Amino acid sequence: MTFDRSVKIAPSILSADFANFGLECEAIEAQGADWVHVDVMDGHFVPNITFGPDTCKAIRPHIKTVMDVHLMIAPVDPYIEAFAQAGADVITAHVEAGPHIHRTLQAIRGAGAKAGIALNPGTPVESVDYLLDMVDLVCVMTVNPGFGGQKFIHSQVEKVRKLRAMIGDRPIHIEIDGGVTPETAPLVAEAGADVLVAGSAVFKGGSVSNPAPYGENIKAIRAATR
Ligand code: DX5
Ligand code: ZN
Repeated sequence: MTFDRSVKIAPSILSADFANFGLECEAIEAQGADWVHVDVMDGHFVPNITFGPDTCKAIRPHIKTVMDVHLMIAPVDPYIEAFAQAGADVITAHVEAGPHIHRTLQAIRGAGAKAGIALNPGTPVESVDYLLDMVDLVCVMTVNPGFGGQKFIHSQVEKVRKLRAMIGDRPIHIEIDGGVTPETAPLVAEAGADVLVAGSAVFKGGSVSNPAPYGENIKAIRAATR
């Protein structure tokens, strides 16, 4: 994984066909996805359940780009090694998920993955102040985590702008997660985000047997940021 600030589209397989993850990952990559975003939910930190490390391990061989694993689970620490072993390139934990985010980030890098930290919409950007030298990515949630297809929360654009200034020259990605569409993508890209997660806006209208709409949807989001 080399670092750059160009806009990268990361489709979230939360909006994929759950009976077809492998083929869905191949389809979105063939249609222009830069990263694949994998949403892990535990029914405790967020009010929804998806899947765990075994599913990540199973889909790993179907991903050629970057496997970007977003952990919406608490506790996080007992599972980091398993997600790293499953082949995650990036493991992102929530600052709200426990009292020891610093230790969690140490553990993620210690397990050999890039470390990400996610902030819920209500969490101040200052919460990453003392963590910036130990992360590779900061994920600004632009919806409350748990479900795809929610409305973009506009107050978060200012948070992205502040975060971009705090990061300065550090090689840290700013990722946006939730409600990304061709309408909202330019707002966050202009504010300094480079990784745009999009679930419903990428998968709408397409399927494994008809993947062309995935490509059109990815292109439309990317074009809106230029
Ligand atoms: C929300 C997830 C997101 C979600 C985005 O908890 O972290 O990745 O899938 O979905 P859309 O793009 O539909 O808002
Ligand atoms: Zn996510």
